[in-house]
Amino acid sequence: MCGIIGYIGDKQALPFLLDGLRRLEYRGYDSSGIAVKNGDIRVHKRTGKVADLESKLPKKIEGTCGIAHTRWATHGGVTNANAHPHCSEDGKIALVHNGIIENARMLRNRLEKEGVKLRSETDSEALVHLIHREISNGAKPLTAVRRTLKRCRGTWGLCVIFEGHDKIICARNGSPLVIGVGDGENWIASDTLPLQALTQHVILLDDGVLAEVTSESVKTSRVDGRSSDSEVTTLEDDWGEAELGDYPHFMLKEIHEQPEALRQCLTGRLDLKDGNARLGGLGLSSKNLQKIPYVRFLGCGTALHAAQVGRLSIEQLARVPALAHVSSEFRHNDPVIHSEAIHFAVSQSGETADTLAAVKEIQLKGGDVRGVINVVGSTIARQCGKGCYIHSGPEQSVASTKAFSNMVAALSLFAIQIGRARSLSRAEGQRLVRSLQEVPQLVEEYLADPGPVKKVVKIVKNAKSVLFLGRGISAPVAREGALKLMEIAYIPCLAYPAGEMKHGPIALLEKGSPVVVVAPNDSLKDKTISSIHECRARGAKIILIHEAGDSIAEEADISIPVPSTDPMFTPMLTVLPLQLIAYHTALALGCDVDRPRNLAKSVTVE
Ligand code: F6R
Repeated sequence: MCGIIGYIGDKQALPFLLDGLRRLEYRGYDSSGIAVKNGDIRVHKRTGKVADLESKLPKKIEGTCGIAHTRWATHGGVTNANAHPHCSEDGKIALVHNGIIENARMLRNRLEKEGVKLRSETDSEALVHLIHREISNGAKPLTAVRRTLKRCRGTWGLCVIFEGHDKIICARNGSPLVIGVGDGENWIASDTLPLQALTQHVILLDDGVLAEVTSESVKTSRVDGRSSDSEVTTLEDDWGEAELGDYPHFMLKEIHEQPEALRQCLTGRLDLKDGNARLGGLGLSSKNLQKIPYVRFLGCGTALHAAQVGRLSIEQLARVPALAHVSSEFRHNDPVIHSEAIHFAVSQSGETADTLAAVKEIQLKGGDVRGVINVVGSTIARQCGKGCYIHSGPEQSVASTKAFSNMVAALSLFAIQIGRARSLSRAEGQRLVRSLQEVPQLVEEYLADPGPVKKVVKIVKNAKSVLFLGRGISAPVAREGALKLMEIAYIPCLAYPAGEMKHGPIALLEKGSPVVVVAPNDSLKDKTISSIHECRARGAKIILIHEAGDSIAEEADISIPVPSTDPMFTPMLTVLPLQLIAYHTALALGCDVDRPRNLAKSVTVE
């Protein structure tokens, strides 16, 4: 969602701000803006792409201190006035804000009664006027921001600059903010991605913390006045490149990164000798694993689908009940938490507000939650404390691809680990570990020759709707295929466990309706063939994802074979054609593949 980048140092701020904005584009946004201080503060902002903003900037913008923002509209429409930065009436203070100020209406009403002329419809603008009032009453910048935040309810990641002060005041509460520490210069950003090329040393601000950042120092304190540590963390080198390279889109690049991403996830975690998996970060001994009454997963969107795969693997290998919940529902359903159960929060970004809220609810009720997360040091990873990173490398396309495969891989590792601690034999463990180890190579083989994906595009691109079917472990894969096609090509898609089709969705089928069936060579295949016949009898066109060499191919109008693997690991292969179908269909329809409308990469509002 919204993104922030700020700079203070001895160099010109503008190049850092523009580069930072470009690196934040992946989060999804509808307007952008910058404020640079050079004596006075100059603000430039507009709706549209960062490139539109850049093309309209004056030739020279000098200044060594500045802040910038990409906005994803929540309070107020997509207009130039609602874009950030927002300024005080005298133009001497500029502010960028991520998050939602819940009591903004009341604050705005009061400001208007006091004669302040509000220029936007946003909640954020109220903050800058309140800060200005404190400054007018003689407060220093840090105090002015602190006093203002004490009057606010809600979430914020914000940066403020002031004419006459060489500093940026920033604060975090529920909306991530990271300070990149340099030598004679410092940066502030809403995530670590725009900082990667600049510094490895970062301060991850905690909720309720304020920071006064100059070119030489970072001083942190809490909004309530208590002191706060500003521990510098060194970021590990991420294996992935945050640049597009030779690919036309991040989505295609990330689809093709899956073999390497999977290797990164599996390396050092497979124990061939004992037929076991090592996930030390979970902090779970065999004794713990034996006592667990059940396992629960929380996630949204693609992460939820990966969790649904994981839960089936765990039930199968460990014979322990496992459930996967939609994070946004979980907290509101007053869940019963068993203190010996294990909960997993599954998230690529580690910032999804619904999943974070679910984690806090579990912790409040005395439950134990581990993170299965991609972004190192993200809010959910820190809130959980323990967990397992999936090591996908940076994922910048809004449509998640390589994170899905790596979540499935990480949860497969856990399924083996808990299975071995309970009833799974060493020989069976060894067979599974060997098979899992081969998956990256099989993914590579498929991507080198992906089959007739473009033929599928011809059928689905003009369809009224597309039905996706799968059974067992392939049911969540079907859901993932439907989500991908819907979110980037805007085609209505339905996904059902194949057996449910005859209980309703079959009514949609008519001559030529595309039905995508995920049917690996597992114990449920014959039942899926019956579902295929039911669809064909109504004139549907069957697009079949199946294992190479399987005679089921005869059931298809278009057959896409993927390499064979153990039934439990098929989701990492069967998902690949579905990702490619979505990508090429969106492309054929002229859609913005990496930045689909209305969506954001990291969904930080509930
Ligand atoms: C789909 C997609 C979203 C995310 C969801 C959860 O392609 O990207 O459905 O999967 O918003 O995001 P994370 O994994 O960051 O919690």
